[in-house]
Amino acid sequence: MKKLESREDIELLVNSFYQKVIKDETIGFFFNDIAKVNWDKHLPKMYSFWESILFGQMTYKGNPMAVHFPINEMEAMEMKHFEKWIELWKKTIEENFVGENADTAIYKAENIARLMAYKMEMARKPG
Ligand code: HEM
Repeated sequence: MKKLESREDIELLVNSFYQKVIKDETIGFFFNDIAKVNWDKHLPKMYSFWESILFGQMTYKGNPMAVHFPINEMEAMEMKHFEKWIELWKKTIEENFVGENADTAIYKAENIARLMAYKMEMARKPG
């Protein structure tokens, strides 16, 4: 298996990941029905996001947390959803890649997911 080392690799990873996501019973509806994602716009953002994280090329400009608050208001984003997100991300990486960047992509996603889950839960608390 190959290393995760180029923009093309990231594109393959992200595309394969969202193919799983949109078919998934637990989280697919967030993308298909709640946010009604424009994939032509969303996918390039995700390529840049991961390129920035893994290769330090700061092509992603945005606030990855902020976009999730309005979704969380429409439909609570809970721990079970984040667990599924991570499960599919890990699976997609392990099916396609090996090496340090592959491990980092899993590790970073787990940390962001944990923080995001916490922030979404706090945002739902009254007061
Ligand atoms: C249950 C978990 C999650 C759900 C349901 C979810 C859903 C979404 C949706 C619907 C969008 C907006 C797409 C649009 O523009 O219409 C989005 C954007 C995004 N998500 Fe998530 N997400 C989840 C977890 C994560 C995690 C764990 C990460 C990071 C590791 C992440 C990173 C991003 C980024 C970078 C964007 C693009 C932000 C921008 O527009 O600049 N998401 N997500």
